[in-house]
Amino acid sequence: MLFPLIKDVVNLPAESQDITIRGWVRTKRELKNRTFVEVNDGSSFGGIQCTFDRGSDARLSPSTEAILGTLSTGSSVAIHGRLVPSPASGQDVEVAAFALELIGDAPAETYPLQKKRHSLEFLRELAHLRARTATFGAVARVRSRLSFGVHQFFQERGFHYVHTPIITGNDAEGAGSLFQVTTLDLKALAQSGKDPDYREDFFGKPSYLTVSGQLEAETYATALSRVYTFGPTFRAEHSNTTRHLAEFWMIEPEVAFADLACTMDLAETFLKFLFTLVLRDCAEDLAFFDARIQKGITATLQGVIDSRFTPISYTDAVAVLEKNASRFTFKPCWGADLQSEHERFLTEHVAGGPVIVTDYPKEIKAFYMKLNDDERTVRAMDVLVPRLGEIIGGSQREENLTRLEQRMRALGMKIEDYGWYLDLRRYGTVPHAGFGMGFERLIQYVTGMVNIRDVIPYPRAVGQAEF
Ligand code: 4AD
Ligand code: MG
Repeated sequence: MLFPLIKDVVNLPAESQDITIRGWVRTKRELKNRTFVEVNDGSSFGGIQCTFDRGSDARLSPSTEAILGTLSTGSSVAIHGRLVPSPASGQDVEVAAFALELIGDAPAETYPLQKKRHSLEFLRELAHLRARTATFGAVARVRSRLSFGVHQFFQERGFHYVHTPIITGNDAEGAGSLFQVTTLDLKALAQSGKDPDYREDFFGKPSYLTVSGQLEAETYATALSRVYTFGPTFRAEHSNTTRHLAEFWMIEPEVAFADLACTMDLAETFLKFLFTLVLRDCAEDLAFFDARIQKGITATLQGVIDSRFTPISYTDAVAVLEKNASRFTFKPCWGADLQSEHERFLTEHVAGGPVIVTDYPKEIKAFYMKLNDDERTVRAMDVLVPRLGEIIGGSQREENLTRLEQRMRALGMKIEDYGWYLDLRRYGTVPHAGFGMGFERLIQYVTGMVNIRDVIPYPRAVGQAEF
């Protein structure tokens, strides 16, 4: 049988029965003859206070007294006692404790997480222990709940979950920031001075970690109508920013018989669903983020749920930005990618909330996007949110074989490598569309955590692959 979790124990009727608490000591305080031990097992934000009455409780054995004396933050314990109404504020119940077992000591001289607040930078170096802190415990619970929420959202709407491959031979985004996967002996190769012969490599050709499951998801969408992927993706971008990781999780729905408007609608409904879920199911954790990380975050999320996202075409967006050009370091100009300062301006000043920018110039978007009649723009959409910028990127796909081949040729892509992808247009082609949401960007947005490296357990970025 599994041991009860603190989150459930605190809801038991007080005074009814003896209970046992298991977890890690957050703090220990002494006041006259009483010792207060705050224990947390990560099952919820709040732990439980266990009070030892050293003077008057005859049940306290000498061994319990001895352990109490040296007990320190980080130790794992089992505490036996009775649940009683708590006189302290901020908690309904506490444990009137009568026995204490030390399961694992955490010597105060060496245990790196002391009672005081540590900086997020310091904790990043301790990624194996940081889940024991209030902040990272809360992030982990929100992340877990939202993962499940992603599946709930799609499963309730007739989408099937597809496991797209992690190792692939294609560059789905055509952006060239790929991690190569090889079993060739690089050292021997360097010594020989020869070029690698990929026929001798594991897959018989160059292979990479996927940057997106989209192309493979399209093959299933044109069979099962509605699908989604949710898995790790990899980008060897040298962008050392607070919103880029080399390994991140992406959710990619793909829908047959759908156009750009469908995906815009789906993206908005999806985000609002997840915000509603997290406000309801992670209220305690969100209250913490609101108080300590990002003031007003819960009200912001509720505000987003209650309002409509603002659609604006790229062309109109650039016109607005050009009128305000003096505010920016990077001059906005039609044809160039929006910089994060531009994205922030659109969300924070123009719309005061999420914005969906549509119909970008084809030059700055991927090869598979459907060309508009103007032949200059494609049916792309990016959802931008305040503070963060892009959280979702999507498009209607080019379903016309001739046009897609033209576009790929113009970009110098090897058409023969994409025969399978083009088959979808050759046989039973349909209009279809989808988007990708970076899961860590979502977590950043709902928690207010500033750095993306603090919302994934083990961040991978340039020069960073510890643990
Ligand atoms: O805009 P992106 O590159 O789009 C695609 O990959 C498409 N295949 C999606 C699709 O249409 N199915 O990436 C999608 C999202 C971005 O909006 C962003 O939220 C996130 O993935 N993202 C990253 N998150 C963390 N670190 C990075 N390096 C990211 N690059 C993209
Ligand atoms: Mg994008």
